[in-house]
Formats: sequence, structure tokens, C-alpha cells
Amino acid sequence: MPHYFKLGQVPPKRHTVFRKPNGDLYAEQLISTEGFSDVSTLAYHCYPPTMVKHIEEPYSVAPIVANDKNMQHRSFKGFNVQAEDDYLDSRVPVLVNNDVYLSLAAPRKSMTDYFFKNSQADEVIFIHKGSGVVKTIYGQLPFKYGDHVVIPRGTIYQVELDQEDNRFFIIESFSPIRYPKRYVNDMGQLLEHSPYCERDIVPPSNLETFDEKGDFKVLIKRDDMVYPYHMATHPFDLVGWDGYHYPFIFSIHNFEPITGRVHQPPPVHQSFEAHNFVICAFVPRLYDYHPESIPAPYNHSNVDSDEVLYYVDGDFMSRKSVEKGQITLHPTGIPHGPHPGTVEKSIGAKETQELAVMVDTFKPLKITEQALKLEDRDYYKSWLK
Ligand SMILES: [Fe+2]
Repeated sequence: MPHYFKLGQVPPKRHTVFRKPNGDLYAEQLISTEGFSDVSTLAYHCYPPTMVKHIEEPYSVAPIVANDKNMQHRSFKGFNVQAEDDYLDSRVPVLVNNDVYLSLAAPRKSMTDYFFKNSQADEVIFIHKGSGVVKTIYGQLPFKYGDHVVIPRGTIYQVELDQEDNRFFIIESFSPIRYPKRYVNDMGQLLEHSPYCERDIVPPSNLETFDEKGDFKVLIKRDDMVYPYHMATHPFDLVGWDGYHYPFIFSIHNFEPITGRVHQPPPVHQSFEAHNFVICAFVPRLYDYHPESIPAPYNHSNVDSDEVLYYVDGDFMSRKSVEKGQITLHPTGIPHGPHPGTVEKSIGAKETQELAVMVDTFKPLKITEQALKLEDRDYYKSWLK
């Protein structure tokens, strides 16, 4: 999905002799997707990436579903999620289905004694609070407030945090995260009407090569199990790579809103898509400029999707009593719309500072046990005058 990129040293021709200064060969690895039929990257390691020393007992991190047949508007106070020292322990799945897991995380400490590889899902880590660096085999991704850190499956990474107060909204996608098709031409380039372009996509940088042998723990997630692998070589031993498969950052602050004379429909806010769901960015923007326009959204029925909003910042014009980190779920089958009074209030308003991430899924979402602990139980009645 991203454009071609190269970092570090690669030989001029693929699959040819490429030697270290001491005469040994570098180990080439093809990291491919869709059975060698979609995007790939060629990576060059100091040592073959295949040397497994031993594997500890795997353990389950499967979401525990409390309600798998939801037919009610829900709201969850995301900032009430329990903070944890460890990054993986801190990840709390709240809404899940077979296409996507939505999780909250408030990790306090950097990952120091292990690496992580999600082999079952691409990850989009939205940074609501905090900063640091995601270190990967492809190089480093310094992150800050508002970033979507997009990590394709199979990427070994480590998270280094600058401080203890961090808030992440994590989207785990069981299919590749893509740019919306309508914004991309046949060559894969983002078109002029796209709300962002390649310059807004930040690839990894600062490729450090760890030419080290030893015992390196890599926690590999697959089928909702974590397999603790011990590798004989440092996972970040690349001297270079090139291709289309790599992690990147896209800041929500670089999403250029599409506005109009009258209310624009939700797809104008779309940032990414995957199989059976889309991701959207609601960003500060000028309101509709027809003299009689109503900027607040109309009531709407999701006849074929569940709608999740993760509130980030600013006043959310169509809602009352919204908190940062709040998640609302408006499921298939029930109309929803502006809260009482917000339509009238929006008339004549010139702009909004709202900031939110939306995920619309085409299959129903299930609610986890952990999510129920964060729930505002009376939310479904909040449209009563
Ligand atoms: Fe909606």
C-alpha cells in the first residue's frame, strides 16, 4: 500500500552476492504478502533470521466476549482503562469481530526485555496521549500525539515511551490496511482529491544495525495466542531493505478535511480501509457555508454497519457530555443522530475543533468483559429530551 522505499544498503541487483566487510554473506529475506502475490520487501540481515533457540509455553490473549449479540447504543469511558507497566499487558480489547479488534492501552513502561510481532493482524496504533519511538526491523518511527502508527503484520517491533502517561487506541485488522481505493490511481499513487498524499506518510528512519548474537525474546501473536520465541540473533540486524511492505506514520493533523456548502457524508472523513471496515478521521474544519445550512449531522440509520467513534479532543458538536477517550458504539439497526439541542446550536456556527477517530464495521461488533467495566449504562437513553 505505501509507495516504494529504501533504507540502508541493498545490493544493486536482487538475489545476488552481497557481502559484509569481513567477506561473509548478508542473509537475504523476502517478506511477502498474499502468497508472494502482493506487496513485499527484501531485507538484508547480518545473520539468517531463522535461528530459533527455544520456545516457551504459549498463552492465550483472546478477548473474552461478554455480549456477542448487541442491539443497543453503548458508550464506554476509555480513559478509565487500567494503566499497566507492560505494553502488551496494557492492551485491553473492548469491541471485536472476525475482521477487527478495537483495544485501548495505557502502557507506563518501555519494552526493554522483549520484542513483539503480531502475526495475525495489521495494527493501527492511534496515539491519543504520549510520545516515544516504535523501533522496528525496518528502522525507527518516532511518534507523538495524533499519529496513526501503521504496523503491517509480521513486523517485529519494540515500543519506547518518553513518559508514563500514555493513551493508545489500537485497531487490529485481520486484512491489510489500505488507502481508500477511490483515492488511489492504478499505479498506487494518491490522487489529487485525496485528503492526504505521500508526503504525509512518514516511513521508518534511522536504521540501526544490531550485529549481535545471544538470546532475544520475541513474543509472536497468532490465533490469539502469544508464543514466546527465543532467537539466537538480534531481530534488528538489518543493514538495509527496500520494497512496499513497511510500517509508517500518518498524523491525523495532516488529514485535510473535505467540506462543502451543505453537510458532507461520513465517507469524506475516511482515512483507511480494510476488509469489512473503514477508518475515518474527524478533524477541525470550517462548517458548511450554505446560508441556511445545518452543520450538525442528520439522524442516520446504519442499516449495514456498526459505527464506533473514539473521541480525541475538542467539542463534539452533535454530542453532549463527551469526554476524551470515550468510545460510542451505534450498532446496525437503530437510528442515531445529534443529541437534543445540538442541531439548533450548530446553525450559524463557523467551525469545529472536534477530533475523533471513527471505525465503521460491516459486521456486528461484540462487547468484551473488560468493556462492560468501562460502560456508561444509560447512554442509550441519552437522546430523550
Ligand atoms: Fe453516526
